[in-house]
Amino acid sequence: MKQVFLLFLVIAIQAQSFANPDYACSSPDGSLRLTVSHNDAGSLHYSLLYKKLDVIKSSMLGLELSKPKLSLSKFDITAVDSLIFDESWKPVWGEVSSIRNHYKQIRFTVKEKSKAGIVMQIVFRVFNDGIGFRYIFPEQAAINHFIIADELTEFNVGQNHKAFWIPGNYDTNEFPYNITRLGDIDAEKANDIDDGLSRESLIGKNAVQTPLMMKADNGLYINIHEAALVNYPAMHLLIDKSNFNFHTQLVPDAYNNKAYLQAPSQSPWRTVIVSNRATDILSSKTILNLNDPSVITDPSYIKPQKMVGVWWEMHVNKSTWEKKSGKHGAYTENVKRYIDFASLHKIDGVLVEGWNVGWEDWAGNWKENVFDFITPYPDYDIDELTAYAKSKGVKIIMHHETSGSVSNYERFMDTAYRYMLNHDMNTVKTGYVGRIIPRGEHHDGQWMVNHYVRVISKMTGYKIMLDAHEPVRPTGLHRTYPNWLACEAARGNEFNAWSKGNNPEHETILPFTRLMGGPMDYTPGIFHIKLNQFDTSSKNQVHTTLCKQLALYVTMYSPLQMAADLPENYNKHLDAFKFIEDVAVDWDDTKILEAEPGDYITIARKEKGKGNWFVGGITDEQARKSVFKCDFLDAGKKYTVTIYRDASNADWKSNPEAYTIEKKIIDKNTELNIPLAPGGGFAISIIPQ
Ligand code: NOJ
Ligand code: CA
Repeated sequence: MKQVFLLFLVIAIQAQSFANPDYACSSPDGSLRLTVSHNDAGSLHYSLLYKKLDVIKSSMLGLELSKPKLSLSKFDITAVDSLIFDESWKPVWGEVSSIRNHYKQIRFTVKEKSKAGIVMQIVFRVFNDGIGFRYIFPEQAAINHFIIADELTEFNVGQNHKAFWIPGNYDTNEFPYNITRLGDIDAEKANDIDDGLSRESLIGKNAVQTPLMMKADNGLYINIHEAALVNYPAMHLLIDKSNFNFHTQLVPDAYNNKAYLQAPSQSPWRTVIVSNRATDILSSKTILNLNDPSVITDPSYIKPQKMVGVWWEMHVNKSTWEKKSGKHGAYTENVKRYIDFASLHKIDGVLVEGWNVGWEDWAGNWKENVFDFITPYPDYDIDELTAYAKSKGVKIIMHHETSGSVSNYERFMDTAYRYMLNHDMNTVKTGYVGRIIPRGEHHDGQWMVNHYVRVISKMTGYKIMLDAHEPVRPTGLHRTYPNWLACEAARGNEFNAWSKGNNPEHETILPFTRLMGGPMDYTPGIFHIKLNQFDTSSKNQVHTTLCKQLALYVTMYSPLQMAADLPENYNKHLDAFKFIEDVAVDWDDTKILEAEPGDYITIARKEKGKGNWFVGGITDEQARKSVFKCDFLDAGKKYTVTIYRDASNADWKSNPEAYTIEKKIIDKNTELNIPLAPGGGFAISIIPQ
């Protein structure tokens, strides 16, 4: 049961009799201190300290409107109120079974100084590990309908931090990460990567996307992102290299407008998460806490799950989505083969891509409106497969590639979801490859943000679960819609199949960046590492060892995990596949044992409702040793551990598939010392005796 303790407490911040007082609000444990200042001209600035260290120096607040044309940046403060909030809530699924939402809030009611006199609120929540703040527009005649031209919010980090960044781009987040000082950001260069994707919507040389991860020379880890992105465009950040102040760049529409709003409305929360320990960044729940509670009253249909799929075989050129090629992958007997494999190995679902007519005309031809989401290819017998999957206790997972024809998808949504339910499917992977139709809209603009929310709301009505590919990057909305299991919204494992791929450090950065907003469908579990199996000329490969692929089931948190390789490749390594079979996808507890962005991550997680633990450890291109105490285990109990680790001669490049498996008995006093190969990793299952 959820326990809620709500304590309202008005804190006297500072005597109002002073001219332009500063207002301060500390985190419940006192480690963060937010200050908001109001200068003579009426501008509002905020700053943030972590144990007396600068996190954000004086940074502007405000917005620019184009209708009515005025700047919301000079205000009279008409009221200030504050409260302390403390509750614990239970997510439907997650990394932990209970989450504490504990913050101090300070809220400013302000009146903009021009004749229009628009009233706004700016609300800050200060948690022990970060802050969130947003703009609220109460209902009022002056802004019945209004257009945001720009947001003036700044994040003045004030120092030339080391940063883990991808270039700002209105349509894609599928980039490798760059690690540079802020002063060395060159987004144009970073955008210019030759991997066959359209990357037209570059913002400029100095723009980066969020979640942005930084490390300061004084040891602070700082993450900037947003929470609850609804009815508003995504926020990108423009660095001013003269003083290391970030300005906000919202994603525009074709008219260069950013958001069309109608009061009452509000912006998403802007978030800054900070700690002197990298592990705290990974365990932060601030973004989730800033989202609204679940709208789903009966979550019984929502199921964390594993899947295999008629999928990787297209990415490695064994087969195709389209039928004309003569190599169609989604034919009845082939799908049955995956269903058999799933059933044998306790995998819940089988994703089938290329099942529906239209693939001859999508990427490459870019015809519009090619899919109706209800017409299978003639060699895909949907009724037979529905019955077969059911008889084997496996669910088929639907695939809706929109190929960017979003208005077409909206037209078919109800029909498509009814069709799914009629064929015993309740999970769907959507996709938004290509330019958005209507033209002029962007993947990360307000129109599309509203689309993604419309899709999940509609799915909620049909009791369907979602995995969205190519959407805007997540902002914690899975708290509100726990049927939204995962998103892609970053550079997944698939890039290894058909491009230069992902460097070994990639997976040590994603949890600090993309995953801050929510789970990722990264599609781990590739065992056949060199990808010339079906295309002998291919030099592509996965940039990890086989064991690192296993570790990703623990380090890359998601309630939807794919075992992405082909059944025939798994059948050659069933001893290693056992880990994928056993690993949980829902957790009671999580311990981030060690982490450093760009270098390594080791995480232990306890299976939901069971005493089993699973540990995953990964490294970048450097070999390393992971040494940790198993003191997260229960006292007085013995456990059987199975350790899947890189063989002593393993190396992601020259010998990626070499592994060893050991079993032993341990207890909570055991210290494990596990070597990781260059680009390597390890996975451990810990089962109570
Ligand atoms: C891109 C997605 O990320 C990938 O998983 C999918 O197979 C293709 N689009 C086709 O929809
Ligand atoms: Ca993709």
